[in-house]
Amino acid sequence: MVASRALPAISVLGLGYVGAISAACFASRGHRVVGVDIDPRKLDLLQRGIAPVIEAGLGELVHEAVASGLLSVTDSATDAVLDSDVSLVCVATPSLAGGGLSTAFLEAVTAQIGAALRVKDGWHTVVYRSTMLPGTCEGVLIPLLEKLSGKHVGVDFGVCVNPEFLREGTSVRDFFEPPKTVVGHTEDRSAALVMSLYEGVPGPRFLVPLGVAEMAKYVDNCFHALKVDFANEIGAICTALGLESHEVMDVFLSDTKLNLSAAYLRPGFAFGGSCLPKDVRALTHTARRHDVEVPVLAHILASNEAHLRRALDTVLALGKRKVGMFGLSFKSGTDDLRESPMVELAERLIGKGCDVLIHDENVALSRLTGTNKAHIDERLPHLAELLTEDRATVADHGEVLVVAAKDEATLSAVEHAPVGTIVLDLLHVPRLRETLAGGQYLGLSW
Ligand SMILES: NC(=O)c1ccc[n+]([C@@H]2O[C@H](COP(=O)([O-])OP(=O)(O)OC[C@H]3O[C@@H](n4cnc5c(N)ncnc54)[C@H](O)[C@@H]3O)[C@@H](O)[C@H]2O)c1
Repeated sequence: MVASRALPAISVLGLGYVGAISAACFASRGHRVVGVDIDPRKLDLLQRGIAPVIEAGLGELVHEAVASGLLSVTDSATDAVLDSDVSLVCVATPSLAGGGLSTAFLEAVTAQIGAALRVKDGWHTVVYRSTMLPGTCEGVLIPLLEKLSGKHVGVDFGVCVNPEFLREGTSVRDFFEPPKTVVGHTEDRSAALVMSLYEGVPGPRFLVPLGVAEMAKYVDNCFHALKVDFANEIGAICTALGLESHEVMDVFLSDTKLNLSAAYLRPGFAFGGSCLPKDVRALTHTARRHDVEVPVLAHILASNEAHLRRALDTVLALGKRKVGMFGLSFKSGTDDLRESPMVELAERLIGKGCDVLIHDENVALSRLTGTNKAHIDERLPHLAELLTEDRATVADHGEVLVVAAKDEATLSAVEHAPVGTIVLDLLHVPRLRETLAGGQYLGLSW
């Protein structure tokens, strides 16, 4: 490919898996790329047109890029920064002994870039591709760049976070066909530049705050790890029960409505109802009976309980006694109160001395028609007394309103609550977040 003058020149700092792939792939797209590493063996290999890591397709790309003169290497970060428009930081971020993240390589390379920026005229964009915890860029790296350059981010230079979603083994293919492109940014100029590097690359694009970009990588990797362990635990139980685990998972994987979908994957309230808690309990019990260790499955209910406690603690921390609750069943649109986390929350609030009043449209209706009346009157007589059919009464009663229903009448009642009423939204209702005054609206995990 012929280099175009319009394409930004790129320096890549750190030529391991991520850096070598980035360097070779951007060069193959016509960028002039200069690579930097502190490992002389990697520099020597690249100088000779040989890939420093083994990856399908990388050898050919490196050979072509070096032969065409588009890819060169140096051990001088300063030279590389001065000789490029944008720097991609791809150094390792290994675990510390205690499990924390080491930012030592990141800080060392950032210090070198900062020193180079001090003597560089004109704009430069620093792009972090390394995986780092939210807050690292803003709290550690940008201050370091500003200190060592004597310049200001957004004024003299730009900083972006552009996580890499490659999988070792298929990383070249993943570079050209990524699942998504994510750019965390602080200002438009650098954001546009980094996005332009991926022109023509398929997949959704996200321009987000720095912390969201940093977090995106952790969410992905933790979910992938969770999926592996989930599948392996299910496999182990299947084997103990004499079932063909792959046959079971074929059935599971065929369901793209509820299983492989966005369902159940947005933060909200705890789960409950007549099925999920009972079935998680029964399957983990079965695993125990067969001496199969299933730490992931065994901790699902503990995680659910921790989430319920977050809601309880949020209300109690407000120091208000009068609580109005909208929604009592385990999810809206049903009158099923079995193992409802809202029932549990109401009971714990009452136990802590709160004066609770509750409205639930479906529960009220089922009492009226007698459907669920016996269950409510016999199992939850203490809550039956606290139910009212009038939403306004609940809204007027509560110094705090806990909202787990989002029908129009409920939202309107909440919006018309007396000034100063605090609303805890358990469902993530954008309308409430927008209409309620700051300080009046609380999300559960948002
Ligand atoms: N390997 C992957 O599949 C993958 C995928 C996505 C994200 N990541 C993340 O990307 C980052 C890099 O991962 P990797 O696997 O490529 O690491 P790596 O260990 O293979 O490579 C890092 C390179 O940085 C070099 N280096 C260290 N200090 C330097 C300095 N001051 N200047 C120049 N070079 C320096 C090292 O010598 C090494 O060659 C990590 O944060 C990792 O978590 C990795």
